[in-house]
Amino acid sequence: MKLSSKKELDQVSLGVEALCKGNLVVFPTETVYGLGADALNPTAISRVYQIKNRPKKHPLIVHLVSDQYLKEWATHIPDYAFKLADDFWPGPLTLILEKNKAIKDFATGSQNKVALRVPNNPIAIDLLREFSNRGGLGIAAPSVNRFGEVTATTIEVIRNEFSQLLLNEDIIIDGGQSQIGIESTIIDCTNEFPVVLRPGWVTTEMIQNSVGLSLDKSSFKIKTRHSGAFKSHYKPRAKVYLDVTPKQGYGFYALSKFQTPSGVIRLGAPKSIEEYAHNLYLALSDADRLNIEIVSIFSPQGNGLANAIRDRLNKASNK
Ligand code: TXA
Ligand code: MG
Repeated sequence: MKLSSKKELDQVSLGVEALCKGNLVVFPTETVYGLGADALNPTAISRVYQIKNRPKKHPLIVHLVSDQYLKEWATHIPDYAFKLADDFWPGPLTLILEKNKAIKDFATGSQNKVALRVPNNPIAIDLLREFSNRGGLGIAAPSVNRFGEVTATTIEVIRNEFSQLLLNEDIIIDGGQSQIGIESTIIDCTNEFPVVLRPGWVTTEMIQNSVGLSLDKSSFKIKTRHSGAFKSHYKPRAKVYLDVTPKQGYGFYALSKFQTPSGVIRLGAPKSIEEYAHNLYLALSDADRLNIEIVSIFSPQGNGLANAIRDRLNKASNK
């Protein structure tokens, strides 16, 4: 793991200071940037909802420094959830668990379940560790985007689109472009079997191998509110057309093996599925910055990460 530089540590200290005073901190994680607030401060949390224009009853993920804090937040944790935490934390996996009664409702959008994740990014870990040294129990952080819109994976996009929504007292920590580029896998762990609510870098196969259980196929019956369940999400202002040959003036995002037709604006030519995920949201943000009206995207084939990417593409292209 990369050690934080002096400049990053200074940013972390400022970030912790801001959290302790009830202000917000934009911080990097390995998936995407988070808009962080002290998970136990109702005023700070309500600012997060307001800035994101997010429905009030829509819960946030609470980020923990380690799985040692699991029991502060959750109760009746099934064995398979401990196994998942053991195998994938710190990492791009969020577990939905029954909420500990001691945790107030505002932290979970009035649900009796809580979403927990230990991120794997050196700055996020430093921030969480220093915050816990100061008595913090967790940082609630959604992705940095207005509700339904494209998620930010770089500081430049955040500065362009979010600066005016933040206060001078809030802190933005630059951690470079997000490594993975799409949000964490979310697993509902409140049933007998794990249920995938949002696909991500941690794939169904990886989860099945870890817990030795097959995943519950009845996810459509789960009534948990989660934005991943919306048909339309992650949308740029531009219209997104999937798997349609781009015409003159269209933006175009596809693996490098696909050529760019003349007059088409190439927004990215990733060489692998990993690079595809890493640059996808940046390409969509670029389309808006360039005032492109239509973007054609060739979706990647296959399982695993490609499946998680197609989930985002289907939502970005939904009318
Ligand atoms: O990678 C990620 O998960 C990023 C980084 C910042 O950690 N965070 C993120 O947060 O994507 P957000 O708020 O954009 O998406 C979290 C999802 C939402 O769909 C939310 O509804 C769902 O998690 N969620 C949160 N708490 C939940 C709960 N108690 N039950 C069911 N779903 C929940
Ligand atoms: Mg989000």
